[in-house]
Parts: sequence; structure tokens; C-alpha cells
Amino acid sequence: MAIDRIVNTAGPDPVDDVEKEFEQTLRPRDFVNYVGQERIKRNLKLAISAAKKRGEPIDHILLYGPPGLGKTTLATVVANEMGAQIKVTSGPAIERAGDLASLLTNLQDGDILFIDEIHHLNRVIEEVLYAAMEDFKLDIMLGKGPSARSLRLDLPRFTIIGATTRTGLLAAPLRDRFGMIHRLEFYKPDEIKQIIKRSAGILKVKIDDKSAGILAQRARLTPRIANRLLKRVRDYADINGDGIIDEKTAFKALELLEIDELGLDPADRQFMEAMIKHYKGGPVGVNTMSALIAEERSTIEDFYEPYLMQIGLLERTPRGRKVTPKAWQHLGKKPSGKKQAELL
Ligand SMILES: Nc1ncnc2c1ncn2[C@@H]1O[C@H](COP(=O)(O)OP(=O)(O)OP(=O)(O)O)[C@@H](O)[C@H]1O
Ligand SMILES: [Mg+2]
Repeated sequence: MAIDRIVNTAGPDPVDDVEKEFEQTLRPRDFVNYVGQERIKRNLKLAISAAKKRGEPIDHILLYGPPGLGKTTLATVVANEMGAQIKVTSGPAIERAGDLASLLTNLQDGDILFIDEIHHLNRVIEEVLYAAMEDFKLDIMLGKGPSARSLRLDLPRFTIIGATTRTGLLAAPLRDRFGMIHRLEFYKPDEIKQIIKRSAGILKVKIDDKSAGILAQRARLTPRIANRLLKRVRDYADINGDGIIDEKTAFKALELLEIDELGLDPADRQFMEAMIKHYKGGPVGVNTMSALIAEERSTIEDFYEPYLMQIGLLERTPRGRKVTPKAWQHLGKKPSGKKQAELL
């Protein structure tokens, strides 16, 4: 895997401490600073006011969407706006039913339990969890065999906020226990620009409006990538100039990073070029592509495809993935006569 890709050095993989701290510093803590996702914010604000008015915890919330769009951030914003405590865990960290039991019994009334990568819970734990979410009771089995008995514990009234890159990976009964399910969308370029300017303010980076716009165009409509680009370009400006990001520095740095005007990096281009070279642009199955470019299927589905589809370079068809005429054009390639006819 291309370790140093700007798109996937964090996300579900463990990130190093520096990167974690960097994200923490830039993470908005309230709705005012959380840019974009207006429809979701409207819904959540309403639910928060209603819950507060009733003096109850907010309903369970499931957030899904590609990495780096702000699911974790939104969970912390909800907790802050509720004035609630948030405890953070993740699907892979909850291995046994006992792990879940200890998490749940240690919550207090009104607490929020954030479960990242909730699609990684195993089936047994999913079952315990959705029963607990429904009636705030926990059934645990004591002992084994004929002497086994079950014990029912009362739990505090808590809220689960789950995050996943794809809801399709979640069992239906668990999904149904969430009162609110929100899909995070890619941001608009001017929202990304706003995020870049906000981050530059926090990091005390000097960047002019035009250059912020240039970075925004190439940040894959994703806040995490926007922040990383800003950091990389700042480093370049520090080393090669006076630390100020102007248009010239921005373009030079992007060229060095090999990020093109659509925000694609060499790995994206290789992915599409491989489809063109070996399968005439598709349709081709995702498993075949995974073997061909030696990337995990989930990496392709989470990191490559959503953005390529969003900007119209890739299509999903019943027979597999296919690059679009726009992709051929962007890569400067010409389909053969027969292929060209098919594409039209
Ligand atoms: N709406 C937003 N406004 C401003 N900054 C944002 C917004 N959403 C995310 N960010 C920034 O992007 C970074 C990544 O966001 P976050 O960690 O919440 O993404 P995620 O969806 O949880 O990703 P993953 O699926 O990899 O866990 C955050 O550190 C934050 O600074
Ligand atoms: Mg997250």
C-alpha cells in the first residue's frame, strides 16, 4: 500500500500521535464552527433542543460516510451541545460481551458512548448491544451448562453514537435501533475553503484567499485532506520561502506532492490507468481490481471509489466498476474505436 498517500495515512488505521494531536487542534467543538452538512446539523439541533426540553438523553445516532468527512467530530459536537460526557471506543476494541458490559455499566445517565467503526462488532456483541439500546437493560449469562443463569441489569439512560464508512456492513436489527441515521456528504469547494481558512487561523499560517481556493479545489471535498494539504503546503512554504502561502508556492507544493487539479494523487491515477490498460476501462469487479493493484478491497471501497464516483470519473454497474469518458479524458487516453462507440 502507498503508505504516504495523503488520503489514507489516518482513518481506520492507527494514526501516529503527531497526526492525532494535529486533528485534535483543528477539530471544531460546536455547531458554529462545524462547517457544512447543513441538513444534518438542522436535524441534530432540533433533536438536541427537544431532548433537553424533555430532560432526556438524545436518541441513538448512526453516522456514516467516507473517511475524513467529520463523523467523529460531529459526535463530539453533539456531546458538547448536549452538555453530555462522551466516552469513545471502537468496534474492533470490543472483543467480548464482557467488554461491552463493562463499558455500559460504567456509563452515567445522559452519557454518550461513541462507537467508531461500529461495523466491526461481532454478531454476538451486536445482539447484546441492540437489546441494551432498546430498553436500557443488559442480560448477562453467569456460568455455563445446566447451572447457568441469566442476570438482568438496569442500565443508565445513555446514547450510542455509531460511526461507519458504510451502513451496508451493519446488521439490519442493529441499524434499526438508531433513531437517527445520517449520511455525511462530500463538502462543497467553498465549504472546504472556509475550513482551510479556519485551520490556517488556528495554525497561524498566512494564506491568501486565492491560494486557499486552490487548495480547496484539490482536497477531495474532504476536511481531513484539506487540513493535511494545508500542513504539507505550509511545510513547503517554510522551507522554500518565508512561510507565506501564495499562489506560486501553492502550485509548486502541489506539483511536488503530485496532486493534480482534480485532487487525484498518483495512486488514483494508477488505479484508473490499470482499469484502462487491463480491462479497457471496465466493467471489472472490485476483487479483481484489488488483486491487480495490490490494495485491500476495503481500501478501494473507502478511499478510492467514493471520491472518484462523486466527481464522475468512476461508475458502479451491475457488472462491476467502469471508468467514465471524463476519466479517459482526464488521463489523456483515447479509447479504441469500438470502445469509443460503447462509451457514447
Ligand atoms: N464540518 C467540519 N468543519 C470543520 N472541520 C472539520 C469538519 N469535519 C471534519 N473536520 C476536520 O477534519 C478532521 C477529520 O474529521 P473526523 O476525524 O471527524 O472524520 P471521520 O469522518 O471521523 O473520519 P474516519 O472515518 O476516518 O474516522 C477533523 O480533525 C476536523 O478537524
Ligand atoms: Mg472518525
